[in-house]
Amino acid sequence: MFSAAALLFLLLIHGAHCVDPEFVQKLGGKKTVLSPHCVSNPPTLDSASGAGHVEKLAGFNTYVSGSLQSKLAVLLASDVYGYETPNLRKIADKVAAAGLYAVVPDFFYGEPFNPNRTDRPKDAWLKDHSPEKGFKDAKRMVGALKSKGVSKIGAAGFCWGAKAVIELAKIADVQAAVILHPSFVTVDDIKGVKVPLAILSAELDHAYPSELLKQFDEILKSNKVDRFVKMFPKCSHGWTLRYNASDPAAVSRANKAHHAMLKWFTKHLK
Ligand SMILES: *[C@@H]1O[C@H](CO)[C@@H](O)[C@H](O)[C@H]1NC(C)=O
Ligand SMILES: *[C@@H]1O[C@H](CO)[C@@H](O)[C@H](O)[C@H]1NC(C)=O
Repeated sequence: MFSAAALLFLLLIHGAHCVDPEFVQKLGGKKTVLSPHCVSNPPTLDSASGAGHVEKLAGFNTYVSGSLQSKLAVLLASDVYGYETPNLRKIADKVAAAGLYAVVPDFFYGEPFNPNRTDRPKDAWLKDHSPEKGFKDAKRMVGALKSKGVSKIGAAGFCWGAKAVIELAKIADVQAAVILHPSFVTVDDIKGVKVPLAILSAELDHAYPSELLKQFDEILKSNKVDRFVKMFPKCSHGWTLRYNASDPAAVSRANKAHHAMLKWFTKHLK
């Protein structure tokens, strides 16, 4: 058992994180927390944004961009704000411009996290929209893509979505994976990864300090998994999506991550 001081220490070091899985385990798997940094700077959602369109895929409302002609697809698993986030759709459009079929499913069934809804506090919301459920849904989407004749699939997960993607990477259900400012992803997860993985992390994300990233890198290396592990300087958790579009430096930092993600998929899918 932990002393009160140890527990407080754990809370302090993990307080900046959405959910620390090991901490949750220690609490008997019951405690779930979405921290402020996972929900800060909420985007203005726009169901009509993006160059693509929305259609039903695998039963999900899905933002789709690009053509199936290449038979190469990329599944983008969102953060808590879901598939109507304009910046996420812009990333999907970039994926499409690279010749890949991009899909952004609504894994929240019409209920992205909404910080204004006091009747749906973070913990209650997360209970109904668990990353485990996200994984099941992502698997269903991968199955649907395969049944459309897609030959290679990449998956990218942002914050909440990273957990679903890392689980796909553990069962080798996709050919390449990218996690961007992940949440919930543990050392044990990384040990189980079987496909090329890029980890794009923020320097200012205290839940994933450089020592932990180094550990991830060493695990992947010793397991002979092709990898790209990078800590982006001056970036905060969420920087690839929830950046200030009027701040050229923030836009540039986000673009660098998008570029790294695209490079990874181009290398491993094409
Ligand atoms: C939350 O409330 C603010 C202020 O009224 C508003 O600008 C914003 O659009 C709302 N967000 C959502 C997701 O409803
Ligand atoms: C966004 O960036 C612009 C330009 O740097 C700045 O003036 C503005 O205050 C920023 N907005 C927020 C919400 O930080």
